[in-house]
Amino acid sequence: VSYTVTLSPSGEQFKVNQQETVLDAALRQNIGLPYGCQGGACGACAATLKTGQVQYENGEPSALAGAGDNACLTCQATLTEDIALTVKTASSDEVIEIQNLPCKVIEKTLLCHDVVKITLKLPDDKRLPFKAGQYLNIILEDKRTRAFSIANAPHNDELIELHIRHVEGGSFTDVVFNDLNEKDILRIEAPFGSFMFQDDSANPVIMVAGGTGFAPLKAMVEHLIYTDIKNPVLFYWGVRSKRDLYHLELAEQWAAEHDNIQFMAVLSEPDNDWQGRKGFVHEAVLKDYPNLSIFDIYMAGPPIMCQSAKKAFLAADLTESNLFSDPFEYSND
Ligand code: FES
Repeated sequence: VSYTVTLSPSGEQFKVNQQETVLDAALRQNIGLPYGCQGGACGACAATLKTGQVQYENGEPSALAGAGDNACLTCQATLTEDIALTVKTASSDEVIEIQNLPCKVIEKTLLCHDVVKITLKLPDDKRLPFKAGQYLNIILEDKRTRAFSIANAPHNDELIELHIRHVEGGSFTDVVFNDLNEKDILRIEAPFGSFMFQDDSANPVIMVAGGTGFAPLKAMVEHLIYTDIKNPVLFYWGVRSKRDLYHLELAEQWAAEHDNIQFMAVLSEPDNDWQGRKGFVHEAVLKDYPNLSIFDIYMAGPPIMCQSAKKAFLAADLTESNLFSDPFEYSND
C-alpha cells in the first residue's frame, strides 16, 4: 500500500509506502524537500499540511510545537491517506546523490580545549559532490549515526574537514577525543541537509555562528571566496569566552584579505581582558542592524540560539524565506 503526496507550488507528486516517513520517501525518489536533523528536533523539514492527516508513530516530535499552524514535520510523519503539502522544494539539479563511503582519518588536531579537527580522505577513485553548508553522517559500528557539518568548501573535494566538540559524557565524542587515531577508517554517508548557500541572491549576507556552528559557515565563506561571490558578508561568531574561538586567526584573515567580509566575535561570558563585543550573538547583530529587511541570514548553532535569533530577526523585518538555519543538536550518547 502506498499514498500520494502532492506538493505545491511545484506540483510534484511522489508515493510514500506504509510506515515510511514522507522525507525518506522523498529522498528515495530524489524530491528536494528541505530537512536538517532527521530526528524531529530542528524543524527544518516543516511543511504546511493543506489536505489530509499525518501520523507520528514515535509521538509528537519536539519541533512540532514551534513549527506553526498545520505544520507537518516530514522527517517523522507517516501516512494512512493521500496528503497535499505546501513547501519550497530544491530544483532537481540541486539534489545530489547520497553516497556511503569509507574514509581514512589523515589528521586529528586539537583546535581548542574542547574542539578537535578531523580531516578525512576519500578513497582515491571517489569524490563527494556537496553544497557548502551540508553535513555528513558518521556510521557507527552498531549502525547508529552521528551528524557533523562539513567544514570545508566543495571545491576542495578530496578531503573532508569536521569540527567535533567534546560533549561531557558523550560516548561518541569520547571515542573521537580518546581513541580515534590517524589512519583509522570511518564510514560516512553524505551529503545531507538543505542548509546551503544561495548562489543566486544578490542580498548582503549576515552569518551567525554559535560554537562549532562555525563549521558550515566556514565552508560557505570559503565557497564565496573561491567562486568570487562579492555579496557583503557580516560574520558574527558567538561563543562563551576567548578560549572557544578556535579559528579566530582564520576568520580575521578573511576579513583582512577581502573587502566584502567583516568578522565580529561576540562573547557571552567575556574574559576580564576582552575588549570586543559582549552578550548574545543575535543581540549584537540587531544592535548593528535593527532593520534586517535587505539581508539574507545564515545561522548555525545550538537550537536554543537559532530559535531565539529567528524570533528576534523576524521581528526586525527579516523576510522569512531569506533566513536559512542549521540548528544542530549536541549528541549526548
Ligand atoms: S525536525 Fe525534521 S529534519 Fe529536523
